[in-house]
Amino acid sequence: MTIVQPTTSSFQKATQTLQAGGIVAFATETVYGLGCDTFNRNAIELVYQTKGRPAHNPMIAHILDVSWVTTLTGGWDDDCEKLAKSFWPGPFTIVLPKDENVPKEACGGRDTIAIRCPQHQVAQQLLECFGQPISAPSANKSGYISPTTAAHVDEEYHHDILILDGGPCEKGIESTVISLVDKPVILRLGSVTQSEIEDCIGSVIYKRELSQSDSPGTSLRHYSPHATANLMQTDDINKIDDGNCVALVLQGEPQCVQQCIQMPQNPNEYGVKLYSALREADRHGVSCIAIEQPPNTTKWDAIQDRLLRCSSTQTES
Ligand code: TXA
Ligand code: MG
Repeated sequence: MTIVQPTTSSFQKATQTLQAGGIVAFATETVYGLGCDTFNRNAIELVYQTKGRPAHNPMIAHILDVSWVTTLTGGWDDDCEKLAKSFWPGPFTIVLPKDENVPKEACGGRDTIAIRCPQHQVAQQLLECFGQPISAPSANKSGYISPTTAAHVDEEYHHDILILDGGPCEKGIESTVISLVDKPVILRLGSVTQSEIEDCIGSVIYKRELSQSDSPGTSLRHYSPHATANLMQTDDINKIDDGNCVALVLQGEPQCVQQCIQMPQNPNEYGVKLYSALREADRHGVSCIAIEQPPNTTKWDAIQDRLLRCSSTQTES
């Protein structure tokens, strides 16, 4: 077992691992991250190898506070300042032109860098101990469901990765990512909503299906369980008669399924439970996961995005 509780000595061990070019998994308020030293090319490569992540998919650099951005970008402006005041520390990521000292490898070969200041105590203490930015994608194998507990991380990596346990993630879905390289564009929605951002800096663009060149990690099939996930209307869910299926329901009462997982009616609570429910469904070894379609209202946008991707059959080219 590589899961450790967040004690002074485990933070020291984690810091030594990062300093030696190793990788460490750690809790954040969104999902668990798989972290390395942003400025160490070998460590970056190790993260890509460990995750099986395509080299062109850039990573988020995590920082302790706004004073750290100067090591990563020269593009910090008034809008960034307003956004940071409103949403940092928290589930919010800003993409800006990168400083020339940041290795391109940390940014999927790009000239831009994604920056987030996380709120979780474990992430903050790790950053404080290490003293410089930590690049970290979600700590799942590439394409699979993001981990929201230390045990989820441990399930996927059978070799020795130190996992700093911070309990179940409070948000449960990945951060909102906004690019300010040009006009503000939301590249991925998380628990910070489009209207909250617009209240802060005015109008921003959000296209539900972005092309891969905008943000490679948003390729359509993503966050996917091993079983085939199908998004279904309540009526269709109720007609399921398939013992080889697990259903995630809101109102529905399917006739006959292997297991029925009741999902919360509130989008934030739904987000907290979503990935653990999908992992639980996968543990049954079923061939199908039927997911009842949530309401088509803006407050469900981030959840709709994840459900669309986890049920998509379109893979990255
Ligand atoms: O909540 C989160 O954001 C978590 C925790 C660990 O911080 N991290 C996470 O990382 O979800 P990852 O690598 O799974 O997703 C990062 C997303 C991807 O969609 C990636 O393409 C996008 O951010 N991204 C990162 N750097 C970018 C850049 N320079 N330009 C455009 N998109 C970028
Ligand atoms: Mg991810």
